[in-house]
Amino acid sequence: MPTGPRHVAIIMDGNGRWAQARGKPRLFGHQAGARRVRQVVEACPGLGVKYLTIFAFSTENWKRTQAEVAGLMMLFKHYITREARALRDNGIRVRFIGDRVRLEEKLVSLMDELELMTADNDLVHLTVALNYGGRDEVARATKRLARDVAAGRLSLRDIDEETLPRYLDTCVLPDPDLVIRTSGEARISNFLLWQSAYAEYEFIDTLWPDFTPEIFARIVRGFARRERRFGAVPG
Ligand code: IPE
Ligand code: IPE
Ligand code: MG
Repeated sequence: MPTGPRHVAIIMDGNGRWAQARGKPRLFGHQAGARRVRQVVEACPGLGVKYLTIFAFSTENWKRTQAEVAGLMMLFKHYITREARALRDNGIRVRFIGDRVRLEEKLVSLMDELELMTADNDLVHLTVALNYGGRDEVARATKRLARDVAAGRLSLRDIDEETLPRYLDTCVLPDPDLVIRTSGEARISNFLLWQSAYAEYEFIDTLWPDFTPEIFARIVRGFARRERRFGAVPG
């Protein structure tokens, strides 16, 4: 019996082009994009989506202009401050994945605070990937794993595909069933590399600021028609 996706991950792309099409600065697009997030999160319970993971800033996005990066960091701080209470009151458990080391202290403390104040929630698990890169995550995980081996806490014999993901930022999350990318690009840009090994992908032309709960619902419902095989022959 096909079921809906329990974990949906979204590469929210196209904010810059959306702004450009309106003759506005890129940050205007990021602001419009941020406003979409709440609607999509709120649609999750009705669609049976228990886990939602969104790509907000990649380890490669530092290559953008200083002005855009600073604008995005400001936006993240404002967003967390503005949405924290609603997230908590609406049963959303928020987690952040990615490397916090390069993020400014103020932002990291807001992230910590939001994780803490929503830690008892269980309606929807929202994970925000911020300064996240799949390769960086695997490298950081490997470092921690190697440290455990060196300290004698883990033996080489025990390293397998069950052990390694316990060191990833996503260790408490199930793998994504469905990955959506907006804006017409058909690539994954270093998102959840290990975790998406058997995810279904949906690439759509819509730019992220135009992504409505209706579009989300259509994609999520369409998922049930897909036949997932995981390498086996359907019986
Ligand atoms: C996605 O939109 C948001 C981030 C990467 C932070 P973009 O900023 O990549 O928008 P485009 O792809 O340039 O249109
Ligand atoms: C991926 O989008 C990262 C986020 C959505 C945060 P990018 O716009 O950075 O990806 P590329 O550069 O087109 O591959
Ligand atoms: Mg982009």
